[in-house]
Amino acid sequence: MAIETRDTLTVAHRASAPAPSIEPARASAAPGDQRWSRRSVLKGIGVGAATVVVAGIGAGSYRVFDNGVLSAGSGRPYDAWGHWRDDPGPLGTVGAAILAANPHNSQPWIFHVASAQVDLFADPSRRVGTIDPLGREQQIGLGCALENLVLAARARGLKPAVTLLPNPRDPTHVATVALPPGPATRSALHDAIGDRHSNRGPYKPGPLPVAALDRLAAQAAAQSGIEVSWFANARDRQQLGALILDATAAIVADHQQSSDAFAWFRNNRDDIDTHMDGLTLDGQGLAPLTLTLAKLLPASSRTAGDTFWLDQTLSVHTRTAAAYGVLTVADPHDPAQRLEGGRVLERIHLAATAEGLGLQHMNQITERIDREQTIGARATFAPRYAELLGRSGGQPLATFRIGEPERTAGLSPRRPVKAVTR
Ligand SMILES: Cc1cc2nc3c(=O)[nH]c(=O)nc-3n(C[C@H](O)[C@H](O)[C@H](O)COP(=O)(O)O)c2cc1C
Repeated sequence: MAIETRDTLTVAHRASAPAPSIEPARASAAPGDQRWSRRSVLKGIGVGAATVVVAGIGAGSYRVFDNGVLSAGSGRPYDAWGHWRDDPGPLGTVGAAILAANPHNSQPWIFHVASAQVDLFADPSRRVGTIDPLGREQQIGLGCALENLVLAARARGLKPAVTLLPNPRDPTHVATVALPPGPATRSALHDAIGDRHSNRGPYKPGPLPVAALDRLAAQAAAQSGIEVSWFANARDRQQLGALILDATAAIVADHQQSSDAFAWFRNNRDDIDTHMDGLTLDGQGLAPLTLTLAKLLPASSRTAGDTFWLDQTLSVHTRTAAAYGVLTVADPHDPAQRLEGGRVLERIHLAATAEGLGLQHMNQITERIDREQTIGARATFAPRYAELLGRSGGQPLATFRIGEPERTAGLSPRRPVKAVTR
């Protein structure tokens, strides 16, 4: 493991980093959504907000119920967050595993549970299409789940022994975890499992202490070949933020990628109750009033949602990132390195949670790298990211931002253990 803060690296900075190619004012709007869409309210909040509340409620107060204004974070889709400690045996380790970070909350996992063993499988039906064309994020997410499972096993007096990819003939068989008895070891990381959430809201201004970054990066210590590079100073943050913005714009401009991402957005409480997966308004880190208004208004179109995402990426995610972390590995196409990288990523997220820090995964750049590769397009994002990463040696596996959050993150839904165990 190596820790690299950008201050200490000799990086060939681009002399004239292109300005972010997105500005809210230039983003296009879907026809007919100017007055009443969630997007226009989210953008123009503060201007006529009271009018919108009255109009929204007057036009259809049923949306208070339809869209879960009063039931955020409660009910069946959120039960898993309150019960992950209940079962003392192997099934309980699955209850912790399903709370892990995972791409688009696709929950791409199936667990086979025996008396002293759990086997983790990928669920190929839960790929997120051209957003993750090479399956990189799915395998990272499975690594995240595996890490929660291991931590939960240790806390339950089991001694997990992990074999990655145990069956060469079945690439969906991600891991076998033998669970013989052992000493019960609880840890701060374990205790943070139920409090870890993606925080997409604003973070407080000001840099994080180097010691805090060091403590997070130490989570990679056990894995050889996985490094954490920090982009913590203003110039590095600006440059990586600009690249993330350009990648976001490229995803939005790519009809197929945009559509594949939108397919995982759950627009109302009915959708959440039905699917118990996907991305929700509650998980977007919005201010309470904005969130309520957004829920009262008609559902966003794909294009309106994209515009909102671009706006948030520009005005909140990149603007308030205290630091970016980039996990690098020798070969991001290697399934085992993706799984181990996912385990490290989950530990970093849990450690950040334990320290009261917010974390948001931001993988637009690698999503474009993999997309360009699969459609045979000229590689534009891979060389730009390589230049930013400088001499760190490895290739980017995953990217995230961290900071001291201004808002508490909302819960995301989960399918229950019995829906994902065989
Ligand atoms: C491999 C991977 C990639 C992800 N990429 C993004 C991303 O680009 N942007 C984002 O906001 N969240 C991203 N996430 C976070 C997931 O959307 C999030 O974990 C999921 O919706 C569940 O929500 P929770 O983390 O709050 O439990 C990613 C997570 C993983 C594991």
